[in-house]
Amino acid sequence: MFKLLICYLLLLLLLAQKTFTEKPTTDQQHNVKNTKGLLYPRESETREVRSLDGLWSFVKSEIEDPEQGFRELWYKQELHKIITITTVPVPASYNDLFVETTIRDHIGTVWYERKFFVSRNWTVDKRVWLRFGSVHYSAIVWLNGKEIIRHEIGHLPFEVEVTSFIKFGSENRVTIMCDNRLLLTTIPQGELVQQPSDKGNRTVQTYTFDFYNYAGIHRSVHLYTTPLVYIEDVKIITDLLTENRGIIKYEIFIAGLENESNDALLPDSDSLSLHLQLRNKSGDIVANDFCKTMPFSGTLLVLDVHPWWPYLMDPDYGYLYTLEIYLHAGGKDLLDVYRLKVGIRSLKWNNSTLMINGRPIYLRGLGKHEDSDLKGKGLDYALLTRDFNLLKWLGANAYRTSHYPYSEESMQMADEHGIMVIDECSSVNTDHFSAELLVNHKSSLEQLIHRDRNHASVIMWSIANEPRTAKNQSEPYFREIVDYVKHLDKTRPITAAINVDITKDKLVRSVLLRVVKSPLNFVLLKGQFLDVICFNRYNAWYHNAGQLDMITNVVIDEAYAWNKVYKKPIIMTEYGADTLEGLHFLPTYIWSEEYQAALFSKHFKAFDFLRLQDWFIGEFVWNFADFKTEQTYTRVGGNKKGVFTRSRQPKAAAYVLRQRYFALAYELDRCPMPHDVFQYVVSWRDITLGRRDEL
Ligand SMILES: *[C@@H]1O[C@H](CO)[C@@H](O)[C@H](O)[C@H]1NC(C)=O
Ligand SMILES: *[C@@H]1O[C@H](CO)[C@@H](O)[C@H](O)[C@H]1NC(C)=O
Ligand SMILES: *[C@@H]1O[C@H](CO)[C@@H](O)[C@H](O)[C@H]1NC(C)=O
Ligand SMILES: *[C@@H]1O[C@H](CO)[C@@H](O)[C@H](O)[C@H]1NC(C)=O
Ligand SMILES: *[C@@H]1O[C@H](CO)[C@@H](O)[C@H](O)[C@H]1NC(C)=O
Ligand SMILES: *[C@@H]1O[C@H](CO)[C@@H](O)[C@H](O)[C@H]1NC(C)=O
Ligand SMILES: *[C@@H]1O[C@H](CO)[C@@H](O)[C@H](O)[C@H]1NC(C)=O
Repeated sequence: MFKLLICYLLLLLLLAQKTFTEKPTTDQQHNVKNTKGLLYPRESETREVRSLDGLWSFVKSEIEDPEQGFRELWYKQELHKIITITTVPVPASYNDLFVETTIRDHIGTVWYERKFFVSRNWTVDKRVWLRFGSVHYSAIVWLNGKEIIRHEIGHLPFEVEVTSFIKFGSENRVTIMCDNRLLLTTIPQGELVQQPSDKGNRTVQTYTFDFYNYAGIHRSVHLYTTPLVYIEDVKIITDLLTENRGIIKYEIFIAGLENESNDALLPDSDSLSLHLQLRNKSGDIVANDFCKTMPFSGTLLVLDVHPWWPYLMDPDYGYLYTLEIYLHAGGKDLLDVYRLKVGIRSLKWNNSTLMINGRPIYLRGLGKHEDSDLKGKGLDYALLTRDFNLLKWLGANAYRTSHYPYSEESMQMADEHGIMVIDECSSVNTDHFSAELLVNHKSSLEQLIHRDRNHASVIMWSIANEPRTAKNQSEPYFREIVDYVKHLDKTRPITAAINVDITKDKLVRSVLLRVVKSPLNFVLLKGQFLDVICFNRYNAWYHNAGQLDMITNVVIDEAYAWNKVYKKPIIMTEYGADTLEGLHFLPTYIWSEEYQAALFSKHFKAFDFLRLQDWFIGEFVWNFADFKTEQTYTRVGGNKKGVFTRSRQPKAAAYVLRQRYFALAYELDRCPMPHDVFQYVVSWRDITLGRRDEL
């Protein structure tokens, strides 16, 4: 204890000294392009949505020649007229669909193409948009041979208006170049290195993160229409004024008013008005509002509100209203309609507690991946449905989108099922800090927050997973990242999953330096950086493998250390053990099902001790299911730390985790206990009371 105090004082001194030499940050230029629009495509009275999912033509460039398609103008005419093609499904990763390693492990560009007709009716007073849920990692899109958009960073949507590129009433051709190469400046990072092979040098893609760099058109492609003047974007913030009075603050952005070739047809912006209606689950209108002048913003008051509650925290969890937005011209003409599902909840936090609707929450969570057999990271409604059913079977109430943004469809399901989400951007193992990386990293967060800010389920932004924050350069870098995220959204806490040693980390510490003027001030102001501290640690796995008696106290000590220094809420976001289903050992031995269950149990003991402190607010198992990784001798067919197999069947530890999560939910929220959580074995009460004399 005394030793710790000395260290602490030394640290204080060190930090204080550092401040005097450090220049204040003056850079307020964020240098990031703001995304616009991108509302999830939804049909309405004024909008049509068409899916372009299905089988697409596919070809990859020659190995070591990613420029081939550009040189040979593969976008200029139908692909099959230029080169031999095959077909692949969209959405899906292309890697696991073939039998050749050359496709699975392809580095560089692949090309997709499909044709489609557009009705002549779509020319009438409409704009047509082409929207991609995600193409990993970067994409260039051509329509009828003309380049229309470029996008970088997978796992995030992008769209472009194509009205003037479309041939109405006839056939159109869309061509997409998809490039999976990761560099030191991409998010996430990777490196291309030359290595000698039997056929001379060849390029090898390396990366340090532990999941497979699946590539392709991972999510749906939509063609949709909006009216000429249309609802471009919606931003809402909800809160509870009292237990039964909720509010929705809204900002509605209108576009399409300027720069039209046929201006005469467009309404005057002064004549526009907005009508908002909020419908509850049974379709009754429970609030409404009118806006007569732009910019359109205001507040809806909802009486007798049914708040959005996490799963098991209320019998009617995941309650969503429908916000209907009607755009009118001249008081009558209906121009556009958009509907958005809205969960009304308050989210507050202080230096020890995270609260939803005024009640402290304890997160019973898991880290996940978008990963499955054959499809890789491709969107799959069947998989999503199974995953949410399994999460609820476990009694879990949260997951982290480790280590990239998950599909918009999954975010909608999280809202519906009352599952809280720590929403993580795709910066993983952040290293080699540079100005260019910083801009891309900020952009990944800007795109993520823009996409997900209206979801009740999103309770935290995670700015990175296991960044190399022991390095000095990480300090100014993350200070800027955090400033930027605060500038984008102040309504949610910021976190990062840290795995460096607390004595070496600069991420949590860094903002201290800015605010500290003297050692005295430091004591008052410490810990301004992350709002919640998450740490990942593999006791008895990567450290002391097999030593189950080296977990509980180590976890307790580390959580205490983080809290003691930074006085912030603490979550353990990763712990776990690789487990080969069907492998059994008594006594326990690593990789067996018994070992995973026993390792969990040792962590639970630490968590229950920590829960007595109000600042320990959650536990997240690594991982929900087994997932594919790069080939390495530590991975047997991928990372096997899943509680479920890759085909979503439980390992022994799943039952143990389920008992804990339901017991916690019962203790904290008095939720009903499913009858099969604890199976009948014997009446322990009868035995202890000595009622079983015959035994
Ligand atoms: C196009 O519009 C006309 C007139 O409104 C309608 O009769 C026709 O069914 C529409 N065609 C399609 C393909 O929607
Ligand atoms: C092959 O790569 C190595 C680096 O790995 C490099 O030193 C060497 O010059 C390369 N050889 C050729 C023929 O490009
Ligand atoms: C802007 O308006 C002009 C004149 O109406 C038109 O020629 C031009 O194409 C428009 N630009 C865009 C980007 O819509
Ligand atoms: C919807 O609101 C109406 C009117 O306030 C109310 O009677 C009804 O019970 C509500 N339905 C639900 C599902 O909350
Ligand atoms: C956390 O505590 C510090 C002082 O230790 C205070 O300045 C800060 O406002 C607190 N944060 C919250 C969210 O309450
Ligand atoms: C945070 O808020 C909770 C609930 O109001 C309270 O019990 C706790 O003491 C607060 N913690 C701090 C550090 O202010
Ligand atoms: C990091 O900063 C510390 C304190 O300023 C300094 O002592 C150390 O040499 C730096 N490390 C590197 C690798 O630059």
